[in-house]
Amino acid sequence: MAKKILGISAFYHDSAAALAVYGQVVFGVHEERLTRVKQDASFPVNAVRACLERGGRLLPGGQPLNLSDLDAIVFYEKPLLKFERLLETHYLFAPKGLRQFLSAMPVWIKEKMLLKKVMLDKLRELGPLDTDRVKLLFPEHHLSHAASAFYPSPFDEAAILTVDGVGEWATGVIGHGRGKDIEILKEQDFPHSIGLLYSAFTYYTGFKVNSGEYKLMGLAPYGAPGSARVKEMTDKIRTALVDIKPDGSIRLNQDYFDYAAGLRMVNEAKWTALFGLPPRGAEAELTQDYCDMALAIQDVTEEIILKLAREAKRLTGSKNLCLAGGVALNCVANGKILRENIFDGVWIQPAAGDAGGALGAALAAQHVYFGEPRPASTGKDRMAGSFLGPEYSEAEAILMAEGYGAPYERVPEEKLYDTVAGLIAGGAVVGWHQGREEWGPRALGNRSILGDPRNPEMQKKLNLKIKYRESFRPFAPSVLAEDAGVYFEKGYASPYMLLIDYVTEGRRKPLPAGYHAMPLKEKLYHLRSDIPAITHLDYSARVQTVHADTNPRYHRLISAFKKLTGYGVIVNTSFNVRGEPIICTPDDAYRCFMGTEMDYLVVGNLLFDKKVQPAGRLAKQEYAPD
Ligand SMILES: [Fe+2]
Repeated sequence: MAKKILGISAFYHDSAAALAVYGQVVFGVHEERLTRVKQDASFPVNAVRACLERGGRLLPGGQPLNLSDLDAIVFYEKPLLKFERLLETHYLFAPKGLRQFLSAMPVWIKEKMLLKKVMLDKLRELGPLDTDRVKLLFPEHHLSHAASAFYPSPFDEAAILTVDGVGEWATGVIGHGRGKDIEILKEQDFPHSIGLLYSAFTYYTGFKVNSGEYKLMGLAPYGAPGSARVKEMTDKIRTALVDIKPDGSIRLNQDYFDYAAGLRMVNEAKWTALFGLPPRGAEAELTQDYCDMALAIQDVTEEIILKLAREAKRLTGSKNLCLAGGVALNCVANGKILRENIFDGVWIQPAAGDAGGALGAALAAQHVYFGEPRPASTGKDRMAGSFLGPEYSEAEAILMAEGYGAPYERVPEEKLYDTVAGLIAGGAVVGWHQGREEWGPRALGNRSILGDPRNPEMQKKLNLKIKYRESFRPFAPSVLAEDAGVYFEKGYASPYMLLIDYVTEGRRKPLPAGYHAMPLKEKLYHLRSDIPAITHLDYSARVQTVHADTNPRYHRLISAFKKLTGYGVIVNTSFNVRGEPIICTPDDAYRCFMGTEMDYLVVGNLLFDKKVQPAGRLAKQEYAPD
């Protein structure tokens, strides 16, 4: 009989839970989407409840599950092994590390040392749990990542590469997936870590570790490629900070880093002397030096990742590669792997970070622990477009609207797409809430804010009036999968927005003379193509291809936009404001809509026009920038 398995990740950042049944992930949600606390790291009680209630209803029989209906509850890492790493590291670096050791200890004692008991106590709040029947399992962190990369992939056989900050000891592994089996072939261990190297630069350039890595990646194209300064920085990284071996394994010079023993990421005095550049304060100006530094570390990261990919190829001889781990969210490096043609097929788990470990842990239990066979490949992945979260009915949306006294128009489906496409083409910004919530960090067209990519004012409008930020990162495009090659060079499938591609030559506008010497603010809104809102400075774009089979409504909307404008591409940014998780419920959607200068909101088939909403019902300051 098919096993029902619940996977959980928690206590680091971005907690989540996922329900797998017979190799198929039925339901999955990040705790932050339900608690509204960004990157909520607490035990995901709400996500577990949603898996049991909403996930259970999706199974044959259509009934909510109880905990005791499960065959196993699986945590995404081994807490004791991780504790051993912390203990040994602090012992190794003592007395230097004593301060952090003491400050970290109470958390560990409270939550991690006693994790099994904490888990059981929290779970029992949700109902009775028969631990004689329900197995409690703890696969290793990187097995969870590897399982999240391989099992849902479209491949029967593939090389697996997982790279992150650190799990228990491992900071990255190369594995080989065949059918239901995963074999780990090679492992890189703490303190040598690509994720921590990248995070050290995230910290040094003034961004938040564990969430600002995207910003650092987005800053890199503002660096001056081929310049003496970038070359000097790249050389210094390679000689002083990281020794890169031909097989992609690395040694980080611990004289320059402080994460193993201290409370900071790096030894700031040594870095300042090395680069001739002090650490940037969080709100300080982003000068060209920091842009050049972002480009230098991006180049070095890509070099390491490409070497690892080649090593994975050498060890497995496989035509396919599966990726996961936080570093696999670096869509520029992922794009490079594809462009280098090392593998015929590359698949990346959409929740590549630790939240995705919940899904991987469940699948690892299914196939590795219980030894259940993996269904044969159908050529498509098993993520259902990554729309694995909660869905809300029209009745729930109507109740929400009535609760706020919010007027709306119910647009019949045959008119909905043309109507909304017309609004977008007319310059409106539209909140689009449809179907099931996305699993993973990206909004993929079910909890998205949409705009016209041709509009030269769109990037500014979205940044300043909707997202309340002044960002150097352009927005991402959602393009009809069949039209990707019309706008982008390679035109490959990128359903989870985890690959970059480049706007085709014919669409580009040249950079003005002396561009790299301009202050960042002046560069910001320079129009770089005929779809400026989604084109980065180096003409790259973080593409999402939209497929009719996994998101038919979104596909129809973009098709309607194409019919109207000739362009099968729109701007897609996540439905939230700065500092807030992506919205989940219709209520979240309405509050975010009313707290920003968004023009329209569409929830299912209900269209809300800002002009006729009751004023003053929701305070703007609720959505003030953080
Ligand atoms: Fe991880």
